[in-house]
Amino acid sequence: MAIQWFPGHMHLTRQAIADRIKETDVVIELLDARLPGSSANPLLAELTGSRPKLKLLNKQDLADPTQTQAWLAHYNALPATRAIGLDASETAPAQRLIDACRALAPLRGGMAKPLRVLICGIPNVGKSTLINTLTGKKATKTGDEAGITKVEQRIVLASDFYLFDTPGMLWPRIIVEKSGYNLAASGAVGRNAFSEEEVALELLNYLKQHYPAGLAERYKLDAVVGLDDEAVLAEIGRKRGALQSGGRINLQKAAEVVVYDLRAGNLGRVTLETPEEYAAWLAAGELLDAERVAKKKRRKGAPAEET
Ligand code: G4P
Repeated sequence: MAIQWFPGHMHLTRQAIADRIKETDVVIELLDARLPGSSANPLLAELTGSRPKLKLLNKQDLADPTQTQAWLAHYNALPATRAIGLDASETAPAQRLIDACRALAPLRGGMAKPLRVLICGIPNVGKSTLINTLTGKKATKTGDEAGITKVEQRIVLASDFYLFDTPGMLWPRIIVEKSGYNLAASGAVGRNAFSEEEVALELLNYLKQHYPAGLAERYKLDAVVGLDDEAVLAEIGRKRGALQSGGRINLQKAAEVVVYDLRAGNLGRVTLETPEEYAAWLAAGELLDAERVAKKKRRKGAPAEET
């Protein structure tokens, strides 16, 4: 699925993060708990290198709690990494965040060596909401839209704890196809950038395997397991009265219903990838990408430039 999603201003964001990282002790990466692997920005991993990381699995209220635990365990087993689950219902998360960051950089602290923390996340992951909660006010959104020039804000969470906010940043190219679908389903990319029908079909395919009961219940379907994805989508359209002239089912409308319901949590608490699944998708994506780069190189007869 082709997604157009790296506008020019993202380069500015990238530069802003690259500059800030030099004076950063801990990087907070805000992830979507429903798609932790896919919502992690590989560009960020490249920019932040070996800096200690706090992974915040946000919107955990929408995610499958068993899978959130699995993801937290996965991240907590990584070196210099801590992970915690979070959602907007937590009214005072500051102390938990401060404690986790201090544990990651025990040598920083006090007025002479304040802890400098950078918070990053892809668009729509809930960063503004979290920062508003932390500051207790409606902060201006750091610009992830063209025309918003403000690229960084500093938030003082304690006298020796500075949080630097950056605009949401996507990456130039996705090498994991399923990540594209999951990001689109979650709302991380604008709706003009993808086909809702394709996204809904992928989504239904996953839900059928992992959450068949929630799916059947939401749309009053007798059984979903035996049906192919198109048949499930058509059935949802029929049940929802998404019809067009001649009584044909409007699959676009049906797809919009499915995507909306996922985002609103109407399909139950759902996680779209397990750590194992994501690792397998990533390995396959990397292989394909290496082949793509090699092919390009052969065609040009020279080392390929990454685009
Ligand atoms: P961003 O700065 O990272 O781009 O994201 P932002 O805070 O604007 O949040 C994006 C959407 O996600 C908002 O919904 C917000 O309310 C919702 N959100 C943020 N945190 C959580 C959470 O922990 N759980 C759930 N369920 N939702 C969360 P919206 O529909 O775009 O706007 P609105 O309904 O809040 O006006």
